[in-house]
Amino acid sequence: MSPALPHLARRFFGVLVAAPLRPGEQAAAGALLRPAERGLFWGQPAADQRHGLECARAVQAACPGRRDLARAALLHDLGKRQAGLGAVGRSIATALAAARLPVPGRFAAYREHGPLGATELEAAGAEPLVAAFARHHHGERPAGIAAEDWDALRRADHA
Ligand SMILES: [Fe+2]
Ligand SMILES: [Fe+2]
Repeated sequence: MSPALPHLARRFFGVLVAAPLRPGEQAAAGALLRPAERGLFWGQPAADQRHGLECARAVQAACPGRRDLARAALLHDLGKRQAGLGAVGRSIATALAAARLPVPGRFAAYREHGPLGATELEAAGAEPLVAAFARHHHGERPAGIAAEDWDALRRADHA
């Protein structure tokens, strides 16, 4: 079995059953958001809000005091919102991408969620680190993110 399968299965069921953020969780996420980002973050499905918050909390535990890293973790998957896919659609998009098959329409938007979210974050005035992690989080570390920061962010995303 591919080592990625348990991770993907967890994400699949996580999307299906994710509960809305509770008031304390909403406050924790809200404390990391700038006003121009609120609509972007709260416009996400519950599963993506929860994933962002869990990533942010993991980074806060690993790198106390690094608000920039916590924000990068919180906001990195914003672009998924634009594809508007549920659990099944996301699985199809992931399978098509893994098979290196051409992906149409919303599946392409899902595959490109990193750059799509980064563009929105840049337009909202987010700091370069936050936009850079959104843009590159499924690829290679860009020069603008230090190796130890990149490792902490990637570990949080894949926990
Ligand atoms: Fe992602
Ligand atoms: Fe993620």
